[in-house]
Amino acid sequence: MTKQVYLPDDIPAVGKKILTDAGFEVVVGSGRERDKMKKEGAQASAILIGTQPFDGDVMDSMANLQVIARNGVGYDAVDVAAATKRGIYVVNTPKALSGSVAETAVSELLAISKNLYQNAAAIHADNWNYRKSHPGRDIAGKTVGILGFGRIGQQVAKKLSGFDVKIIAYDPFAKSTDSVNIVDRETIFKTADYVMVHLPAIPETIHTIGTAEFKMMKNDAYLINMARGVIIVESELVTALKNGDIGGAALDVFEEEPLPVTNPLVGLDNVLLTPHIASNTIETKARMAIDATHDIVRVLQGEKPESAVNQLD
Ligand code: DGY
Repeated sequence: MTKQVYLPDDIPAVGKKILTDAGFEVVVGSGRERDKMKKEGAQASAILIGTQPFDGDVMDSMANLQVIARNGVGYDAVDVAAATKRGIYVVNTPKALSGSVAETAVSELLAISKNLYQNAAAIHADNWNYRKSHPGRDIAGKTVGILGFGRIGQQVAKKLSGFDVKIIAYDPFAKSTDSVNIVDRETIFKTADYVMVHLPAIPETIHTIGTAEFKMMKNDAYLINMARGVIIVESELVTALKNGDIGGAALDVFEEEPLPVTNPLVGLDNVLLTPHIASNTIETKARMAIDATHDIVRVLQGEKPESAVNQLD
């Protein structure tokens, strides 16, 4: 029987072609909700997911499931232990998106420094003079502190190399390079003008940035989070932003997504909020679809995937 690959969200045509060329049936679903996935994916041998939770309960509704492919790098929402127990591979696409996420991180650093969003919105509101009370800040001469010096953190450092900034990073597994000094965690918070979060959401990092860290930061420093919302204690960030403990924040990820419009971050003057767009570019979406579908094909054809996050015996 032809094996089915279920895509709760549609993906670029190049990825679907890889699946159909390999002889699989592609089923494009109607969304990420748990009940929809259970129903639409009931016959699936493979699924390609976004950041939605995927646990043992959903896996059990897909009796043929052999591989869960994450269309991205973070797999914190997938119960990997439950998949391993059921003999299901979990794969991701770490090589496809680092450059794109780093570009977005640097864009947000620039945007928040120059108040780009607020100034642009002010023009539409016929408020040319907004700029008078909201001057921007130069980046040159500042210190950028990167938390997590993996693939994405390293790309951020590379892309910032022409901006005349001093770059420091904290990562227990990384070594200093010619242009980036690895320092301790406290030094990042105490000395950086920009604290950039590029950590995975794992038990060791979840809710580890809160009041204590914001009190260590300079009053005019910015926090930029492109990783996962749960790494930060969001309520404590709101307090820090309101009290002026830090200068501002650029956030692409949140504890709850989609971010409810009632969230107290919405409407603050010193934040830039974007809807988890760091890897959401035409080029990166195509690359992720290619990498993910190649690994799906490998697994469904009985081969080992290239980018498995779990090991099956
Ligand atoms: C990732 O790859 O984990 C990004 O956050 C987009 O999903």
